[in-house]
Amino acid sequence: MRQWLRPRTGLARHGSVPKIIFEANRPERTKEATVEGGGELVDVADEVLAQVPFSCRSATCGTCICRVIEGADLLEEPNEDEAELLGLMGSGGDHRLCCQARFRDAPGVIRLKALDTGGPQAAVGDD
Ligand code: FES
Repeated sequence: MRQWLRPRTGLARHGSVPKIIFEANRPERTKEATVEGGGELVDVADEVLAQVPFSCRSATCGTCICRVIEGADLLEEPNEDEAELLGLMGSGGDHRLCCQARFRDAPGVIRLKALDTGGPQAAVGDD
């Protein structure tokens, strides 16, 4: 069972489990949580009401694409569906789909920020 440790403060046991920070354009809307046991970013984003837009939640629309600013090594490798969509979107190596990415149970900081995609269609291919 997942144990949430003082969401929004990130002060609890920060040295032994990942602290996940969802940055926002307005600093007061930045959300963070410290979570034990690894898991899915989407669950943490939902729990802290992060400024990450979601639509399909199944790696088909690209709405939830985020840039990983820090801590990419604390994320598991993209699954097949995520890798395929990121490839179709021509995304750089620092981009992840927040609905698919899983984080490891390891100390450190994961800092990410949702891209302003302007909606699902704007996020997929511009060519
Ligand atoms: S919400 Fe559609 S790809 Fe993540």
